[in-house]
Amino acid sequence: MHIGLLTGGGDCPGLNAAIRAVVKRGTADHGVNIVGFNNGWEGVINGDARPLTREDVSGILTQGGTMLGTARCHPHKVEGGMEAVLETAQNEHLDALICIGGDGTLRAASKVHDAGVPVIGIPKTIDNDVVGTDVSIGFDTAVSIATEAIDRLHSTAESHNRVMVVELMGRHCGWIAVTAGIAGGADIVLAPEEPFDIDVIVKRIKHRHRHRNFSIVAVAEGAIPAEGSSWKPTETLDARGNPIAGQIGAQLTQAIEQATGFPTRLTVLGYTQRGGVPTAADRLLATRFGVAAIDAAVAGNTGVFTAMRGEHVSMLPFKAMAGKTKYVSDELLQTAAGL
Ligand code: F6P
Repeated sequence: MHIGLLTGGGDCPGLNAAIRAVVKRGTADHGVNIVGFNNGWEGVINGDARPLTREDVSGILTQGGTMLGTARCHPHKVEGGMEAVLETAQNEHLDALICIGGDGTLRAASKVHDAGVPVIGIPKTIDNDVVGTDVSIGFDTAVSIATEAIDRLHSTAESHNRVMVVELMGRHCGWIAVTAGIAGGADIVLAPEEPFDIDVIVKRIKHRHRHRNFSIVAVAEGAIPAEGSSWKPTETLDARGNPIAGQIGAQLTQAIEQATGFPTRLTVLGYTQRGGVPTAADRLLATRFGVAAIDAAVAGNTGVFTAMRGEHVSMLPFKAMAGKTKYVSDELLQTAAGL
């Protein structure tokens, strides 16, 4: 049996742990051949593959990034991309392809499956926005990095009597900002799920500074002002039409300083949230997902993705996540707001 493996989309901690689990379980327990594709779907389109053995994945459990490389490339968006994927699948005699990726990669995975290549998905994204799974690979590490950053901002904020704005990743969701904000004790948490009013923020900061001399504001990169809000950031868009990260944080910092008169500083955590070693929770999740995915491939259970549901790993059909986004729950938003 020949099973292909790729990592697509933005990297995150835990990808190597998942690769290792697929290869170890696949080769030792099932006796299958694993073929790794370099740089996500790009590698499948170009037929850029290499065999993966137990030796190749030895020692990678704790390493950040992905030994296979990754790219933001989707075959259905590239001219001739789908045909090239089908050709590679035939040339490599693939019985199944395991795709480790976020919503974009998994959407492509579903299309490739429908086109005739049996596919199994593994959700990974620090944004934690894949529907169907309680958690995705990389999220726990990102939250612990963000929490540590917020912890560290407390002492310097207090020493200088400052407001500290910390901007966190998450794209259109506030999972990192909300969870790290709660865990790190941020005073104000702003998430895209609950558009904010600058006047309310300013009032809360002024009120707090009557008895404390500093405040921490955790803002998700995708946070947006409420309809009718007296202040709006000017958006700069990238080539894909997405707001450029760092824009909301910088502008909000300026607006808070102007309105409160308190010295206000910005920290943009950026890619540090995606780099470095995975936490124990991410290593465990990635390993469980990797094992479940290769077992499913060998059993011929395809067109599905691994999903953490409570205590168990389940296999869900791609249609369970297609076109949907997992937003932060009201309960979590209320918890963050009420502290
Ligand atoms: O999806 C993961 C993520 O890190 C987002 O949180 C962020 O908005 C985006 O990727 C950054 O994308 P890129 O790696 O293309 O700069």
